[in-house]
Amino acid sequence: MVPAPAKPARVFDLRSSTPERWLQIVLADFDAFMLDHTLCERKASAMGMSLVAKYPDRALILDDLIAFAREELEHFHIMYRLVAERQLVLPSDEKDVYVGELRKLMQGRDTEGLFLDRLLVPGIVEARGCERLRMVTDALPEGDLKQTYLEVTRAEARHHALFLRLAKRYFSETRVEARAAELLDSEARIVDQLPLRPAVH
Ligand SMILES: [Fe+2]
Ligand SMILES: [Fe+2]
Repeated sequence: MVPAPAKPARVFDLRSSTPERWLQIVLADFDAFMLDHTLCERKASAMGMSLVAKYPDRALILDDLIAFAREELEHFHIMYRLVAERQLVLPSDEKDVYVGELRKLMQGRDTEGLFLDRLLVPGIVEARGCERLRMVTDALPEGDLKQTYLEVTRAEARHHALFLRLAKRYFSETRVEARAAELLDSEARIVDQLPLRPAVH
């Protein structure tokens, strides 16, 4: 019997594309972008571990979340070394308006709905990060920096597919897809209203 072909991995389908103008702003102040990006890697790692802390009894996601947090920490370390080489100083955290607005979408959800959103929203953040890092990677001249960005971007592509898979370990495909569609519509509205900055969001 011929085995059935593997199902293609589902990924979050962003509803809007980042304008080219954003890339121009990033390239015009690449140090600022790198510093912001470095902080994003650290925050992603912390977010993974905060999910581990919040849901210690959800055994079906823990191993993957710990691996995710480690990989993001590794990205943070790689990026930290790059910015340190350039003699840049990491800024202290400032409020991330994009993530703040996405968090508001989770308000008023019941326990299970909140659990679902806590998996889907980071997946969407990863998807947007991946879209933008890919634009940056493509624009960079050949060299070590482009190579590093290429590796990081490939990992981000895996990450957003991962969160969708994790959600489906606890929720039906229909429920996951329906909620993801709502969140993706809202994310496009949010991102389109934010000013363009030399930053990931
Ligand atoms: Fe990363
Ligand atoms: Fe990531």
